[in-house]
Parts: sequence; structure tokens; C-alpha cells
Amino acid sequence: MDGNNGEETGMIGRLNHVAIAVPDLEAAARLYREVLGAEVSEAVAQPEHGVVTVFVTLANTKIELLGVYGEESPIARFLERNPSGGIHHICLEVDDIAAARDRLVRQGARVLGDGAPKIGAHGKPVLFLHPKDFMGTLIELEEA
Ligand code: CO
Repeated sequence: MDGNNGEETGMIGRLNHVAIAVPDLEAAARLYREVLGAEVSEAVAQPEHGVVTVFVTLANTKIELLGVYGEESPIARFLERNPSGGIHHICLEVDDIAAARDRLVRQGARVLGDGAPKIGAHGKPVLFLHPKDFMGTLIELEEA
């Protein structure tokens, strides 16, 4: 990737959340609520994304606990490789997701899927960038 081709800086905004894939969502939610004393949401199934999500709200960001939903869950393979769970992706905010995508593609980054933003867990457009282009980290972009 060519990260220095004269593009302006300032595209990336706040850290929206860090997502952790977990083998037992109920146990994970209990751990954050009871051991860490955090504000923890109810579990919400996201059939179109193949996950069940629980959000932990912190003062400055959120943690998204991800459990498996259905046979085609995108986190099933991750959990095979990381049976006790682990950090799955980070989510960064952008003002304009289509402009961010076009800029990243111009710079050689690969967008997962068909490249079209999908509606994510917060009802806002999201897309994912290939972890091989970002030092092994899966990055979700969410329109702020
Ligand atoms: Co996410």
C-alpha cells in the first residue's frame, strides 16, 4: 500500500469500539457486569451479520462482545483458532464512509465483501478492511 501519495490527513475519527469474540456470550457479559462493574447491554442477535452482540459502555469508548449466531457466523473460524476468545476487530469512525472507502481503495487497501457499506450493529453504515493491509488487524469503519 502506498500511504504517502499526497492525500490529506484527518480521515479517521474516534475509536468507536473494540470487538472481542467470545465462546460464551452470557459468561462474558456477566464477567464485564459483575467483575468489572461495567454498564452492559442486553444481547442482540444480528442475523444478517451472523453474530450476537453485547455492548459494554465505557466512559470514552465501547467494547463489543461478539458471540456466534448461526452456521455461517464469521467469528466461528476465529473461535476455532482462538478457543478462549480474543480481540476480533477495532471500529474507527469516519465522517463519510463512501469517501473513506474510495480514498482507501485508491491507496491499495482491500475492502471485504462487495465493497458496499452495510448497516451495522448501531444502525449506521459500516465496512471492513482486510487485516493483511493493516498489520493483522481487522478494521471496521463506521460512519459517525
Ligand atoms: Co464492530
